[in-house]
Amino acid sequence: MTAVGIDAVEVWTGKLSLDLAETFAPEQGDDPAKYTKGLGLHESSFPDAHEDIVTMGANAAYRLMERKGLTPDDVGRIDVATESAFDNSKPVSTYIAGCLEQVYDGDFHHANKGERKFACIAGTQSLDDACNWIRAGRHRGRGALVIASDTALYERGDAGEATQGAGAVAMWVTEDPSLVALSVEQGHGSADETDFLKPNQQFPSVDGKRSIQVYLARMREALVDFESVAGEVGPEEYAYAPFHTPYPGMVRKAALLAYRHTIRGTDVEDDLAGDIGRQPRRDEYDDEAAFDDAIRDYMDALKERPEYREWYATHIDPTLAISERVGNWYTGSVHLARLSALHHAAENDRDLAGEEVLVASYGSGAQAEIHAETVGEGWREEIDALSIFDRIESRYDLTFAEYERVHDRHNHAKQAELEAFTTPEDEFIFDGWGGMNERTYRYVE
Ligand code: HMG
Repeated sequence: MTAVGIDAVEVWTGKLSLDLAETFAPEQGDDPAKYTKGLGLHESSFPDAHEDIVTMGANAAYRLMERKGLTPDDVGRIDVATESAFDNSKPVSTYIAGCLEQVYDGDFHHANKGERKFACIAGTQSLDDACNWIRAGRHRGRGALVIASDTALYERGDAGEATQGAGAVAMWVTEDPSLVALSVEQGHGSADETDFLKPNQQFPSVDGKRSIQVYLARMREALVDFESVAGEVGPEEYAYAPFHTPYPGMVRKAALLAYRHTIRGTDVEDDLAGDIGRQPRRDEYDDEAAFDDAIRDYMDALKERPEYREWYATHIDPTLAISERVGNWYTGSVHLARLSALHHAAENDRDLAGEEVLVASYGSGAQAEIHAETVGEGWREEIDALSIFDRIESRYDLTFAEYERVHDRHNHAKQAELEAFTTPEDEFIFDGWGGMNERTYRYVE
């Protein structure tokens, strides 16, 4: 079967940043370590006054097309995943196509456009849709632009405020991809949950503590489902495991569960048994509470073991480097985790071609999806061409008072006036409203 997956990626971060330890924590009266150590976050990205999900998505897509030498005729599909849309009918992909048509001679009239919604997992679902379209042979030799773009804002004062972020990831999906090919096998864990939702409102209603438990439960279900089609997953089988990362502390919890699951019944469990015992099995306990206590004790012991710490440092920690600097990008988050991992491999001169990564996506509401990806021969060139860390470094660092004004600017109910902090250059910007209440955009040289 022909390999299908991501050929190239570009990333656009919101151009402003908020330092959580230096600027946010003191205003909340919190110990900065709650953010840097507890949540594992250092900074959040925010959109400047002229930025939104359309400009960030269009800017990422334009850079991608330019770098790959693509024209509109090469694009058979534009799929946008977002949970920050401002229009209940006209998809964001049409706004982005409109932007791109300002700078290209051709047009996207023969490209199929849409918008995917399922909280953060919609980015991976759009990627799946694009891959399936190619596998079905409907693409006529063309590729798909898959764009995950979000402005992840919470109500001021909500516990989620510390995890905010804004940015877009644009992926070029083709046959014989340079970066990664997706496995046909995938596992799902899905249930009707009300942990995080936005019923006709901009900011989410969140049950934060419960959302953590729902994430873990659905992720576990997805792993079991994946194993039912792909075979049992061993702890060393995959070079990296990029997870959806609302904040790195969430991934720390998920990774420990995944490790426990993948070592069960293996030599690793036997080797650890002398120090921390074997994993509790349900049928050895009379009641659920006793079993839960035993599991908790085992996990507490496991997370201190050097075997686990080394596994985490090798397979998980490298996936978090971008996330800890930009916060939650919702639909783009797991795609940043993949990039962090590949960037880490490049920095360490690792020859990754042919190796596999295990990608664990998640969206509240709730659904998890797990699939494998095989790293392509051209991965290194693609990763070397990325400038994400330079872009992160060049963001404008907000004071707290400025952050409050930026939040008000992007609050749909307020839409407060705000002078931009950065000067736009070679990028699409939001420049006002049209006669039918549509948002309008232009390219600034
Ligand atoms: P909180 O109550 O502000 O924080 O809410 P906390 O008190 O639970 O502290 C957070 C961690 O920091 C804890 O670690 C503390 O112990 C630790 P844990 O016990 O969990 O390992 N801590 C410290 N560590 C060191 N030094 C200190 C210190 N103080 C505390 N001094 C919460 C945290 C995540 C609930 C909140 O930020 C929230 O509601 N976030 C939004 C929801 C969310 O991100 N949920 C994650 C799973 S759902 C998901 O991923 C989907 C999502 O992306 C949406 C979508 O799919 O569209 C959100």
